[in-house]
Amino acid sequence: MNSELLKRIVRAIGDGSQRDLELLAEKVVESERRVGHNKLASQLESILEKSQSAKKRHAPLIDSERGMKQLPLSKRHGELLATVIPHDALEHHMVLPAPVEERFARIEREYAARERLGVYGLKNRKTILLYGPPGCGKSLGAKRLAWNTGLQLIKVRFDALLSSYFGESAANLRNVFDMAKERPCVLLLDECDFIARSRTTRNDIGEASRIVNSLLQLMEEYEAPGLLVATTNLESSLDDALFRRFDEVLQVPLPGRNEIDKLLRMTLSAVTLANKISWKRVIDQLVGSSAAMTVKAAQDAAKAAVLSGEKVVTEALLLNAVKELKRIDSEGILK
Ligand SMILES: Nc1ncnc2c1ncn2[C@@H]1O[C@H](COP(=O)(O)OP(=O)(O)O)[C@@H](O)[C@H]1O
Ligand SMILES: [Mg+2]
Repeated sequence: MNSELLKRIVRAIGDGSQRDLELLAEKVVESERRVGHNKLASQLESILEKSQSAKKRHAPLIDSERGMKQLPLSKRHGELLATVIPHDALEHHMVLPAPVEERFARIEREYAARERLGVYGLKNRKTILLYGPPGCGKSLGAKRLAWNTGLQLIKVRFDALLSSYFGESAANLRNVFDMAKERPCVLLLDECDFIARSRTTRNDIGEASRIVNSLLQLMEEYEAPGLLVATTNLESSLDDALFRRFDEVLQVPLPGRNEIDKLLRMTLSAVTLANKISWKRVIDQLVGSSAAMTVKAAQDAAKAAVLSGEKVVTEALLLNAVKELKRIDSEGILK
């Protein structure tokens, strides 16, 4: 066996990557056959086949397979009503004002202690509404909750769910909630004002009201083991009755000076900073901007530094990046 192959095998063992090991085992068979060790190659091949088929029979389904098999489908077109956001796509580092951070952390602590709370007839906060301006961490908040509770994040697809056929949207929604009963997850209704907006933009107004009503009822009866997280930019477009159904209504605000400072430092942690940056001046320019814009400005400045060859982020680069993003934003291109 060649030394390169041996090194890759040992590396895969070190990484604990089963998939790589399987691929490498196939390579070993190939390489033995190439050098004329046909008998050995066939023996290895049959060992490999046996172990793979045994594993298929016994192994629990991997995330994505499980996701595909049990996700509900829409009634008429058989479209997926929800998608699983893979664990490795869960960003979870958030910068929040302390009182907001504490409320997120409380949801996570209560989830971890749900059984202990149950002993006293108490329930952990399960249904959460996140509202606030765009780009400040509502969708990120759902990912972070999934990450910190270890629950799978499942996002409802409103486009597939809303049907113009009588009663079908409500039935689709019920399907999604039924799934959440069987399968502990963070069920994400991202930008759920889509439902409320559809009241005015859809031809069939009756259907939109029906789905709001059935959402109200499903929230009332919510008994799933995981969490439900809904997000909206427009608190005013949500039914008052809907607001009241949530265990926790949490505003995710624009970052203040302190948070802007942290967001900049977090984003720039891997690059070299010039000595004489006046953070006050940079932050002055970012007050009133979203967290997303702050992160993007820092990234843009870092990229410009790398491309210029100097590899040092300066105040001028930061101010420039902010200015450019603000200009684009004011032209309404960035949303
Ligand atoms: N509070 C925050 N802390 C850290 N990064 C944030 C925060 N809010 C937004 N971001 C950054 O901006 C991006 C967009 O945020 P997102 O959560 O999608 O905003 P929205 O509130 O519109 O759902 C995130 O992926 C993240 O990179
Ligand atoms: Mg969002």
